[in-house]
Amino acid sequence: MEKFIVEGPAKLVGTVNISGAKNAAVGILPATLLVKGKCHLENVPDISDMRSYYTILESLGAKIEYINKNELIIDNTNIKSAIASYELTSKFRASYYLLGALLGRFNEVEIGLPGGCNLGARPIDQHIKVFEKLGAKIDVRSGRVYASKTSKLKGTSIFLDVVSVGATINAILAATLAEGTTIIENVAKEPHIVDIASFLNSMGANIKGAGTDVIKIVGVEKLEQKSSYSIIPDQIEAGTFMVAAAATKGDVIINNCIPKHLEPITAKLREAGVTVIEQDSLVHVKMDKKAKPFSIKTMPHPGFPTDMQPQMCILLALASGTGMIVENIWESRFQYTDELIKMGADILCKGNTAIVTGVDKLYGAPVIAHDLRAGAAMIIAGLVAEGKTEITHINHILRGYEDIVGKFLKLGANIKYISEGDTDD
Ligand code: EPU
Repeated sequence: MEKFIVEGPAKLVGTVNISGAKNAAVGILPATLLVKGKCHLENVPDISDMRSYYTILESLGAKIEYINKNELIIDNTNIKSAIASYELTSKFRASYYLLGALLGRFNEVEIGLPGGCNLGARPIDQHIKVFEKLGAKIDVRSGRVYASKTSKLKGTSIFLDVVSVGATINAILAATLAEGTTIIENVAKEPHIVDIASFLNSMGANIKGAGTDVIKIVGVEKLEQKSSYSIIPDQIEAGTFMVAAAATKGDVIINNCIPKHLEPITAKLREAGVTVIEQDSLVHVKMDKKAKPFSIKTMPHPGFPTDMQPQMCILLALASGTGMIVENIWESRFQYTDELIKMGADILCKGNTAIVTGVDKLYGAPVIAHDLRAGAAMIIAGLVAEGKTEITHINHILRGYEDIVGKFLKLGANIKYISEGDTDD
């Protein structure tokens, strides 16, 4: 079985370069389907979720020229089909953006019901509401989603019942080429939403308000890319290295990031006693003592991101007192705490709350990466623990972090990737 072996304790020192944002890239790639022509993308993260997307788009008729591992030109002139492979689309969450993008071009669209990390119930009722309000018919049966329309989608007013990143992006994708004006209220405000809107606007879309509670989209006839587009740096990858630096009492420059996007993480780290120095496109994180205990409540942006709570729990697990984590977005995001308890952490979970009391040490153990961010947290736990931590189910981690082993090695970590069939000695 594929695994990571981490030998701790480590003190991370040096500079790490942050890759392009996964959750922007998985929206921007399908957004290229709205262009009957070529799109040139830069700062694309080299992660397995993107490779799955390339295979899907190529199977629909896209031609992709891979310039290097982070840059590509995609030609969607000859998309022949809007029926995406069940096997490929049902493997990951962001495949649902194919619905919004392909509905802009085709009358009949079909994908597998999106999979992705197991974080508890992951309904798509708000996506369905968006498409239906715009005039499409949606059917969910036999593990597939069927979307159809008989004429162009028509702009309308939509109020989302819950603040959803995915439904907001799907609404933007579907409304971009619709007839008339769409106003979406109670939308998500994450940096990747702004990036996807900026990408579409750079090609002639008319999207205003991304990053606020209300987005207004005036439908346009067609889009055309005139120059290449560079995807924003990954907020969560940057945050993960910030916490890894703090938890290992290290000194790390996190380069090629947008400090503004990291503010909720920076504020919480400072509360814990960590030094965070912000500059134009980097943050410098230093720590030389035990963290002060803190509490977190996960919230949609600009609140504390749910995708950072497992990593922050490692810092809290070694803090000088007791803190609390309240998870407000995903119902099953505390599965990783059982793994930390195996390593010696003192954590009590009840419902959506975890009470974490700092201990003196964690000890290496065999652990599971239950999902992408839980997996990142297991690496940080392995770095701070004494002895060897063996992390399995790392396919989750490889879905969303580019060259994670190489980046940690460069900071002085002792981490190894063991492929299937290899032994670790
Ligand atoms: N929700 C509904 N109905 C819907 C959609 C969402 O009730 O139709 C609920 C969800 O159950 C959840 C809340 O709304 O309680 C927020 O879900 P959202 O739609 O915002 O999540 P998502 O789009 O499925 C994206 C990220 C996740 C990240 C969340 C929250 C992508 C591909 N995924 O998921 O990222 O946790 O937003 O910020 O962008 C990750 O990268 O590790 C990851 C899980």
